Amino acid sequence: MRAIPESESLDVVDLPDPRPAPGEVVIDVAAAGVNRADVMQRAGKYPPPPGASNVFGLEASGTVSAIGDGVSGWSIGDEVCALLAGGGYAEKVAVPAPQLMPVPRGIDLVSAAALPEVACTVMSNVVMAGRLAPGELLLVHGGSSGIGTHAIQLAHALGARVAVTARNQAKLDRCRELGADLGIDYTTQEFDEVLAEHDGADVILDIIGAKYLQKNVAALATGGRLVIIGMQGGVKGELNIGALMAKRASVIGTTLRARPVSGPGSKSTIVAETVARTWPLVESGDVAPIVDSTFRIDDAAAAHERLDSGDAIGKVLLTME
Ligand SMILES: NC(=O)c1ccc[n+]([C@@H]2O[C@H](COP(=O)([O-])OP(=O)(O)OC[C@H]3O[C@@H](n4cnc5c(N)ncnc54)[C@H](OP(=O)(O)O)[C@@H]3O)[C@@H](O)[C@H]2O)c1
Repeated sequence: MRAIPESESLDVVDLPDPRPAPGEVVIDVAAAGVNRADVMQRAGKYPPPPGASNVFGLEASGTVSAIGDGVSGWSIGDEVCALLAGGGYAEKVAVPAPQLMPVPRGIDLVSAAALPEVACTVMSNVVMAGRLAPGELLLVHGGSSGIGTHAIQLAHALGARVAVTARNQAKLDRCRELGADLGIDYTTQEFDEVLAEHDGADVILDIIGAKYLQKNVAALATGGRLVIIGMQGGVKGELNIGALMAKRASVIGTTLRARPVSGPGSKSTIVAETVARTWPLVESGDVAPIVDSTFRIDDAAAAHERLDSGDAIGKVLLTME
């Protein structure tokens, strides 16, 4: 099969086809999502977890082409999308069966590759860890990102109010079209000051980390939950514990890729919750896959450049044909 193993150049090479181990299925990949983590892995800053494929790609869509021992509920030819620990930038990928999801009704096979990573990340952080409730206010940093565009739609569909940060008006306008109630241009406005005018955020989905820690705590409402999923602004910050205690607030950090396949806090728990709670909203049209652009696998470098440019709104995808 053709695939892109870890390299600076993103060259497509021939590798042996994967075979399904017990509990796994093999997918013939139609499309793979490009994630910031791939760009970081390419730069040597985000190595795959032990045992994971060294082929890039944390999510894919495609057709089941082989089924390992002990797998039930899936058949050859099923159209699926999947959360991967790696291996998506390839014509075929082996994946543990609990990480498979059906393609939601009404979504085409290529667009389905835009869903697994964002849907599972937002479900696990905003809903499961952040416990966002109807009527509450969610602040999403980077509202136009792959993660952000999904978080806006899901929170809006669940009856929450949504504030977003982004770098310019065009991005903020798109966030509003997706359901955001309040847009903050972080290049000209202080988001904590804006949030203070709205009694603070009940949940913050943060991708910046250290640089925003103090302002995020300041922007929380009483009882607020700050959920940190990215470190684009550094890993070590100073936490004002007094401010946290006074607000009875909490700071949570999570990562999806390194979670176990099954058991407490596992990918299978998150995948099941995502299919149960998000997929009906995708099928009703309340939550859509937001695809910025699609590139062929041979143009993976251009796809990375697009994500890295900061101009993308939503997901960048790679197709295998
Ligand atoms: N922990 C996990 O399990 C997990 C899983 C998936 C993703 N993530 C993280 O989530 C983030 C988004 O991922 P993605 O793939 O959706 O990436 P992406 O589409 O490339 O988005 C990156 C975003 O960062 C925003 N940004 C940069 N500087 C900012 C600032 N100072 N204030 C506010 N926003 C800023 C950009 O917004 P502008 O263009 O408006 O500047 C852009 O929307 C990444 O950090 C990724 O590592 C974490």
